[in-house]
Amino acid sequence: MGVLADLRPPDRPMTVLLEREEPIAVIRLNRPEALNALSNQLMSELVGALENLDDDEAVRCIVLAGDDKAFASGADIGDLSNPTHLELYFGGRIDKWDAIRSVRTPIVAAVSGYCLGGGCELAMACDLIVASETAQFGQPETNLGVLPGAGGTQRLTRAIGKSKAMDVILTGRFLSAREAEAAGLVARVVAAEAWLDEAKRVAQAIAAKSPIGVRLAKESVNQAFETNLRAGLEAERKAFHLALSSEDAQEGMKAFLEKRKPEIKGK
Ligand code: CAA
Repeated sequence: MGVLADLRPPDRPMTVLLEREEPIAVIRLNRPEALNALSNQLMSELVGALENLDDDEAVRCIVLAGDDKAFASGADIGDLSNPTHLELYFGGRIDKWDAIRSVRTPIVAAVSGYCLGGGCELAMACDLIVASETAQFGQPETNLGVLPGAGGTQRLTRAIGKSKAMDVILTGRFLSAREAEAAGLVARVVAAEAWLDEAKRVAQAIAAKSPIGVRLAKESVNQAFETNLRAGLEAERKAFHLALSSEDAQEGMKAFLEKRKPEIKGK
């Protein structure tokens, strides 16, 4: 197990652990005593880890995981109690979510157990979700007198549609893994013992491809949520031409015609 650049006060344990299995890396959220609630320290360490890995050419896909019991139970409710407006504005919480959105390396969320509030928002900020059949998804912030504040009202609605998103957010009820998969929130559901292995398998499959094609594909899919169809199609066409001019694309097509495996260089 690797150690991250040390961002924490000296007396506090790491809230995020890193396992490198190149070409993939696995980030584990590590606050089991609080069901991986997203404390300020955890969010800082998570963003630091993601940014380091995003700059590392040897890492082509990232798995973000919790443990069997929880991916993450939401924002740390202790951190959210009694903040001043100034703390909220200058506290940098929003900047951390923006930093996660800026990561270009694909991120697979590996979810087992509770995936609630900010935890569900974190999973949705990843590129796809692989879930254990034990996973439970929810945005129970209305139980606390607030609402999802890190993208939940927008991303959940885009993922599962208005009526179901209203049901989940307004009533605070949880979606089972199977219901989340049927609704389009989750890409794959697997047996309880297989969630992390399956997420790593998905990450390995992504990492085996040219990082140029993969990163441009991620960027283009995300454009579908930012633009109208015409602008999205134009962005896709430009990305396609950019990918086509890469050495990897030329090698990929040559290898297909020569009936051999391509040698991917990331160029
Ligand atoms: N923040 C801080 N601590 C949390 C936490 C959270 N979000 N979720 C759980 N914990 C802590 C509990 O306080 C408890 O600590 P102690 O052992 O010291 O008492 C420990 O984790 C275990 O939790 P429970 O005893 O409650 O475990 P359970 O199995 O009985 O219940 C649960 C599990 C249903 C997930 C329950 O813990 C729960 O409802 N948690 C809160 C979920 C929630 O409301 N999330 C939204 C947070 S707000 C948010 O995320 C805002 C946003 O959009 C950014």
